[in-house]
Amino acid sequence: MRIDVVTGFPKMFRGPLNESIIRQAKKKNLLQIRVHYLRRFTHDKHKTIDDTPFGGGAGMVLKPEPIFECIESLQAKREYDDVIYLTADGETLTQKIANELSLKSNLIMLCGHYKGIDDRVRQKLVTREISIGDYVLTGGETAALVLIDTIARLVPGVIGDAESLLSDSFQEGLLDCPQYTRPAEFRSMKVPDELLSGNHKVIERWRHQHKLDRTKARRKDLLS
Ligand code: ADE
Repeated sequence: MRIDVVTGFPKMFRGPLNESIIRQAKKKNLLQIRVHYLRRFTHDKHKTIDDTPFGGGAGMVLKPEPIFECIESLQAKREYDDVIYLTADGETLTQKIANELSLKSNLIMLCGHYKGIDDRVRQKLVTREISIGDYVLTGGETAALVLIDTIARLVPGVIGDAESLLSDSFQEGLLDCPQYTRPAEFRSMKVPDELLSGNHKVIERWRHQHKLDRTKARRKDLLS
């Protein structure tokens, strides 16, 4: 999978995309991520990417020209499945959407900043708008990082143990159960006997029951 990120703040991506599982996925060439700096697609002395909104009001709006130039230059090189704009008024990201996007080959993720982007970009270039939750961020960059992370871990081969993905919270419509590792007793707290039993059926029953209990206690809405 290839992901092209379009942003006015490319440095925000340096750390998070160069650690842990995403770093490994890039090394193994299962994932290619390119971050494009909007200022490179400007032609004025000051490399202006934003301007005041028509009609007045606070905040700045990202100008259409650099975004069109950047995205159209990408689209001239390959076909993209979606141009995703990260925005608080988009559809709310769910595991189902992440599953769906993980099957795509080429994605563009466009990050807004300040008051957002000129609406003509949304009308002509954007094919999907995603929010990571009902709260407002300073820009789409952190949202793009969340989206990349949720998608990347689902790309085949990125996480070795495919079965572990299927048991994640939300994948079965349930939250995940408590997990334990060695030692079997720590500061008088014992790991449940069922998990130490070595009996696969007993373990599975315990896990399923605790997924249900946790979902009932924390997220009743998932059970309906
Ligand atoms: N930009 C600002 N807030 C956002 C949110 N909640 N999700 C995605 N992009 C955003």
